[in-house]
Amino acid sequence: MRQILRLRVFSSLLTSTMRSHTYIDSLGSASSIMARVLDGKALAAEVKNELKLEIANWVNLGHRAPSIRCILVGDDPASHTYVNNKIIAARFVGIDAEVIKHDSSITEEQLLREIETLNADSNVDGILVQLPIPETMSERKVCNAVAPEKDVDGFHIVNIGQLCVDMPTMVPATALAVIEMLKRFKIETFGRNAVVVGRSKNVGLPIAMMLHSDKKHDNGLGMDATVTICHRYTPKEKLDNFCQNADIIITATGVPKLIKANMVKPGATIIDVGITKVTDENGKSRLVGDVDYDEVSKVAGALTPVPGGVGPMTVAMLMHNTFQAAKNLRTKSALQ
Ligand code: GUN
Repeated sequence: MRQILRLRVFSSLLTSTMRSHTYIDSLGSASSIMARVLDGKALAAEVKNELKLEIANWVNLGHRAPSIRCILVGDDPASHTYVNNKIIAARFVGIDAEVIKHDSSITEEQLLREIETLNADSNVDGILVQLPIPETMSERKVCNAVAPEKDVDGFHIVNIGQLCVDMPTMVPATALAVIEMLKRFKIETFGRNAVVVGRSKNVGLPIAMMLHSDKKHDNGLGMDATVTICHRYTPKEKLDNFCQNADIIITATGVPKLIKANMVKPGATIIDVGITKVTDENGKSRLVGDVDYDEVSKVAGALTPVPGGVGPMTVAMLMHNTFQAAKNLRTKSALQ
């Protein structure tokens, strides 16, 4: 009988998701165990079912249903799909949701006026302007026009600032999705090395903010990890080194196959936020992440798929934010 020898033994500090992944048999050939798949689609269904119940209870208490308005400018097919998914999810959980569509000839001034109207509408809890918007407009100006308390995207400077100083705030849904996945899949972050690849203000930055922050702060968002942020000017060999030392890699670059197996510590957790449409050798288009999934899944301990990972959880967390905005606004109006 062939005896299987364990090649690597990890310290008991590592979570159950961080297992040894390579075994070597008595003849010296290696065989692999696949990484645990962190199924964002299933988790999102769970979160949405919880929200559906909570919102039904809220409405049973006599409150009106939470509401969101999604502004969509132009005809980018991906944006239309994303907004459609948000509307479907909102209606599923019991949020009143409408899309406000404009063609790309709308001026910045008209858009800002529309946001002002929605800010003043007491029947609207959440406002979202789907990005990208036409290049003729200032994205920062538009994001800052949304009232911070209705900014369910968490893109307003007040919300970003509050997150940076550990205050309760609206957190960008993608970043919140990543943190919620780490929590619900019980990936230990305390004292661990985490690398965030990508420094965008809407994704990489808020993820790094929460990962490195102290859990003891008021907002309860801290994860107590030691965080390194890498970006396009991080030299490749440095990126490799940082990733090889990481217990957790969060990648959000939109560069397919950026993260290869040789960059991953055996047993590490990889959260793939990238989503890029590629055309395969048969001319068929499909969505891929930043991770070379087939090879990394043989080394990592846990890994999110694309599609079906962070994407569905982002939509679920947007619903969470919208319900939170409705509750905050109710509390605020009760105090006035
Ligand atoms: N475009 C791509 N991701 C997002 C997002 O999370 N929110 C908005 N508003 N637009 C996006």
